Amino acid sequence: MFIKPIQFALLAFCARTALAVQSLEIKGSNFVNPNTGNRFQIVGVAYQPGGQSGYNPGSGIDPLSDGSVCLRDAALMQRLGVNAIRVYNVSPDLNHDMCASIFNAVGIYMLIDVNSPLAGESIDRSNPSGSYTSSYLNRTFAVVEAFKSYPNTLLFFSGNEVINDLPTGGPNPPYMRAVTRDLKNYIAKHSSRSIPVGYSAADVRELLLDTWNYLQCNTSTSGADPSRVDLFALNSYSWCGDSSFATSSYNTLVSDFSNTSVPVFFSEYGCNKPTPRIFTEVPVLYGPLMAPVLSGGLVYEFSQEPSDFGLVSMNSNGSVQLLSDYDSLQKQYSGLNITTLQGEAAQNTTSTAPACSSSLITNQGFANNFSVPSPPSGAQDLINNGIQNAPVGKIVSVTTTAVSQVVQGTNGQTVQNLAITPLEDDESNNPSTQTTTSTSTTPTSTTSSAPAATTSKKSSAATMQASFYALLGVGFLAVVLL
Ligand SMILES: *[C@@H]1O[C@H](CO)[C@@H](O)[C@H](O)[C@H]1NC(C)=O
Ligand SMILES: *[C@@H]1O[C@H](CO)[C@@H](O)[C@H](O)[C@H]1NC(C)=O
Ligand SMILES: *[C@@H]1O[C@H](CO)[C@@H](O)[C@H](O)[C@H]1NC(C)=O
Ligand SMILES: *[C@@H]1O[C@H](CO)[C@@H](O)[C@H](O)[C@H]1NC(C)=O
Ligand SMILES: *[C@@H]1O[C@H](CO)[C@@H](O)[C@H](O)[C@H]1NC(C)=O
Ligand SMILES: *[C@@H]1O[C@H](CO)[C@@H](O)[C@H](O)[C@H]1NC(C)=O
Ligand SMILES: *[C@@H]1O[C@H](CO)[C@@H](O)[C@H](O)[C@H]1NC(C)=O
Repeated sequence: MFIKPIQFALLAFCARTALAVQSLEIKGSNFVNPNTGNRFQIVGVAYQPGGQSGYNPGSGIDPLSDGSVCLRDAALMQRLGVNAIRVYNVSPDLNHDMCASIFNAVGIYMLIDVNSPLAGESIDRSNPSGSYTSSYLNRTFAVVEAFKSYPNTLLFFSGNEVINDLPTGGPNPPYMRAVTRDLKNYIAKHSSRSIPVGYSAADVRELLLDTWNYLQCNTSTSGADPSRVDLFALNSYSWCGDSSFATSSYNTLVSDFSNTSVPVFFSEYGCNKPTPRIFTEVPVLYGPLMAPVLSGGLVYEFSQEPSDFGLVSMNSNGSVQLLSDYDSLQKQYSGLNITTLQGEAAQNTTSTAPACSSSLITNQGFANNFSVPSPPSGAQDLINNGIQNAPVGKIVSVTTTAVSQVVQGTNGQTVQNLAITPLEDDESNNPSTQTTTSTSTTPTSTTSSAPAATTSKKSSAATMQASFYALLGVGFLAVVLL
């Protein structure tokens, strides 16, 4: 087909807008935007609409399979101010292109767990050796294949809360290193960019430092150590109600992790006793006491489920009701200083990984042997040659921005003109500091579309480029109208 110049420009425009976020890298204990050199802090929410039943690959469902639901939720998250979601259960055999592209367009990164609760799709906490099989690994590699090409895939979790007590602290840590190694080796061979792999720990304080040390330490006497985690996260619920840095024992976490060799962040937080939540931990987490050590966190969780942690309640007909926790969290986010949050150069953090040694481990009975199980039969072949029928994910153009479902604010009024606002290249979403946020405090002005998200600093070259493509975008509209 003959391509007219205007259509060519249009293609260029689409290709350009398709790359809204910059893939992040890890340097020392920080996430870093390699374009700007700025440190990136995670301002995220856990996203698992429908809870565990939201993952049903047999029926073609996982949390990132329905573009219209993702569009609705991305608009609400953009308005909330988050820059990342964590998704626990994904099927590599479903198509995630539209959801991934929508989150990409609004500057929201994805943290993907490679496991699921279905049999054979995770390391069984009570039977690690029996569940560490090549068919299990095949599935985790398929998840990598499905997500490796999205620029907003931030990282993979190789395990979640697999080490929860002393009985699991003995046998399981070597398997977490083994799965981490296999994933990192697979990514090194089959992904065009390096995507970090890490572990999400239960906040069981007695075991936390042993777990961290076991996973971050360096077994290598020369060079790379693929079984070492690239990051360490914890699911932390120790700040409840109107607590404080000391009462919540966040102070202990900061001193414990102060010399971490990898990024540390909350892969879940947000104690819900008491409810409704007021999220006073937010300014502390992103403030001067914690931000130098932690890289932010993800609030548990976006949708209301039986466990009662939701920010929004979803109805089966697709409509959504915002809950008061949504407004409270948005209000706390809007008080954050965006410059200190994302606009500062990453320092050169030079904490080297400790050498693995049984002296790092303090609990009797916790694993202190750092020899890691070899890949099960057949798995090394998958790592070397790639899996069969590897799924392919790709960014597609996002043409619909308006949310079609009904969304009701906490004041009972319908949120008008709800839509996503695609960001320019290299930008991530940020809390808006300009809006008075809560729908309940402004009953007459029903909230409109996502407030213009404030964004990370850009070079003037990038701005000029953006204006150039914006002009092409006008051309694109003209073509459509003709
Ligand atoms: C490996 O994963 C791919 C993609 O999901 C699938 O098509 C294939 O059947 C799997 N192979 C094995 C041996 O499980
Ligand atoms: C692990 O230690 C070896 C030997 O000191 C070193 O060459 C290597 O760079 C270290 N790796 C990491 C990831 O720190
Ligand atoms: C959707 O379901 C909710 C809850 O059952 C109900 O309140 C609402 O009226 C329904 N909306 C539509 C558009 O059907
Ligand atoms: C945000 O932080 C920066 C750098 O720390 C500071 O210069 C600026 O004044 C702060 N902005 C506000 C609104 O407090
Ligand atoms: C960080 O290290 C690089 C070289 O490794 C150097 O060019 C840069 O100036 C350093 N930045 C800071 C803030 O020290
Ligand atoms: C980190 O700090 C702890 C004490 O807080 C110390 O025992 C440990 O050796 C330090 N690790 C490194 C790698 O410096
Ligand atoms: C560590 O585990 C390996 C493999 O199971 C074993 O061969 C080795 O003897 C163990 N080392 C110690 C010090 O127990």
